[in-house]
Amino acid sequence: MRIFLDTADPIEIRRAADAGLIDGVTTNPSLLAQVAKEREPSDIFKEICQTVEGPVSAEVVALDAEGMIEQGEKLYEIADNIVIKVPLTEEGLVACRALTNAGIPVNVTLCFSPTQAHLAAKAGATFISPFIGRIDDISGDGMDLIAQIRQIYDNYDIETEILAASIRHPQHMVQSLMIGADCATIPPKVLYQLLRHPLTDKGLEGFMNDWKSLGRDL
Ligand code: G3P
Repeated sequence: MRIFLDTADPIEIRRAADAGLIDGVTTNPSLLAQVAKEREPSDIFKEICQTVEGPVSAEVVALDAEGMIEQGEKLYEIADNIVIKVPLTEEGLVACRALTNAGIPVNVTLCFSPTQAHLAAKAGATFISPFIGRIDDISGDGMDLIAQIRQIYDNYDIETEILAASIRHPQHMVQSLMIGADCATIPPKVLYQLLRHPLTDKGLEGFMNDWKSLGRDL
């Protein structure tokens, strides 16, 4: 499963990319607002696209299809690995179809139901982003949505990739892997939670102490 980093912070992206941990990046207007106070959003996207080879999702902020298409075409000029993110609205799906027809990959975001995911695929989405954590937030079952979409896409040989999003903790990741999501986007905090284990730290400490007590060089 491909892992995307869910942030617009170039420092976090560089750190994860240097360790070879990520296959791409996803951003949204809220994430961009955190880092674009003193920089042009297009410059940030340019830097991110130079840091990672894989897909970098950049979201439109227009609400009408025409505006989304215009913004999408402009964003796509930044780099070949830009993916245009559009919301799962009727206008968003019209824009998805137009951008897809123009050869521009599209990530349809803010997906909260299996029927939305089906329609996004019909509109030609390259990626569908179901928001697991936000469904859990309102006492739903975000993982169940991923499983439903997986079954629907498999039933009909739909090629749209399931990009599990709004991942809040390692169990969301484990279940996405088990269900067979194609990719997952995770915030930096969760990425490092996946990496760390107290027994690794404890084991390493024991090895270092024993080695030190030997008093030799390797
Ligand atoms: O990729 C979508 C993600 O940024 C939303 O996550 O935690 O704000 O629901 P969250």
